[in-house]
Amino acid sequence: MPNRLDLPAGFRWGASTAAYQIEGAVDEDGRGPSVWDVFAARLGAVRDGATGRVACDHYHRWPEDVELMRGLGLDGYRFSIAWSRVLPAGAGAVNVGGLDFYDRLVDGLLADGITPMPTLFHWDLPQALEDGGGWLARDTAYRFAEYAELVVDRLGDRVPAWITLNEPFVHMVFGYALGIHAPGRTLMLDALPAAHHQLLGHGLAAAVLRERGHEVMIANNLTPVWPASEAEADVAAAAAYDALHNRLFTDPLLLGSYPDLSAYGVGEDLGGCVRPGDLKLIAGPGLDGLGVNYYNPTRIAAPTEPGGLPFVEAEIEGVPRTAFGWPVVPDGLRELLVGLRDRYGAALPPITITENGCSVADEPGPDGTVHDQPRIDFLAGHLDALAAAVAEGVDVRGYFTWSLLDNFEWAEGYQQRFGLVHVDFETQVRTPKASYAWYRDLIASHQK
Ligand code: FCB
Repeated sequence: MPNRLDLPAGFRWGASTAAYQIEGAVDEDGRGPSVWDVFAARLGAVRDGATGRVACDHYHRWPEDVELMRGLGLDGYRFSIAWSRVLPAGAGAVNVGGLDFYDRLVDGLLADGITPMPTLFHWDLPQALEDGGGWLARDTAYRFAEYAELVVDRLGDRVPAWITLNEPFVHMVFGYALGIHAPGRTLMLDALPAAHHQLLGHGLAAAVLRERGHEVMIANNLTPVWPASEAEADVAAAAAYDALHNRLFTDPLLLGSYPDLSAYGVGEDLGGCVRPGDLKLIAGPGLDGLGVNYYNPTRIAAPTEPGGLPFVEAEIEGVPRTAFGWPVVPDGLRELLVGLRDRYGAALPPITITENGCSVADEPGPDGTVHDQPRIDFLAGHLDALAAAVAEGVDVRGYFTWSLLDNFEWAEGYQQRFGLVHVDFETQVRTPKASYAWYRDLIASHQK
């Protein structure tokens, strides 16, 4: 039996997914192409040439998936809405069939007592908007707010809280700076406008949501940054990395200003894209909650050669690794949460963990069951760390694990399995893993 943790009353248990990673049905019922359809079709872009064409076929199988959520006893379910299902060209003509899908899903969740927590943007920009510059274009922020308005006007009577963006840092770096994710651009520091325009989009959409009485959150990928040594150069490199990964996407929301990026040769206007009034819009009246996606800490050293980025990533040694190779450091979650509280003080809203989990190379055994003990250990360790942060006074209101189902793991295709439920991608058979039963029992022991 899992341990009962000391958590605040009303703590919410959930699981997370994202549209392109699970839905499939990429050209059904009027959905338009997104950057991920186009990127995945490129030779060599995704491992094994995998795409999200079918993924978990959740678009058709969602009732079965909601049933799996009910079996877990989830309080909430975080999913994302595919912008190009609702607005096939990103703006203009509305595809009512797309809205209908999410309408059915929301009703299905509510019928089972599960609160829907949609993310409006989880990296699948309509390709038509990418053709106009994507997040490098200021216009995209305004299109995002229009899209938010459309969705909230349809679902808002049943959805209390919204997440605007998922991991704008990862989207900027992987999508626009390094080209590992869609849209596959390799702009390095010239990708910074994609940070500002995502945040501006957040601010504009947040205003629309608030006007209608909704709660607004964002899901940021945050990491404790460890200098590789106490040497001044390593400490300075770590501070520069922290500014880019953590502060760039959190300071403007909570403090109304961008961090010092002078180590990158960039001023407060991020290379000229910040206009007067933007930061006010981005901060708005503050967030109702900060979503934190935590996977691992990052160890940073000073660069060995001049002229490039002001940091290099260093290995974290002596810790277990996930199947993905990511270091497993549960206490990093406590460190991160306490660090956020110390950094932002009264400006920090309540926190919800919106993603945390690990990939395990797990397959059903001869008896048909999936023994994913490493995932159970991972989740248990991180939940202990969360409870430790709560004991240190951090206001954490919920935990949403990544992920409900094995799914399309972006550039890694179907190789990395993050689910509590195993998916056979040939047959679409779902098999709850040992971690599913463990999480169900954990949730039940807290709901008593
Ligand atoms: C996060 C993403 C999510 C998933 C996990 C493993 O960065 O938000 O979609 O891919 O990593």
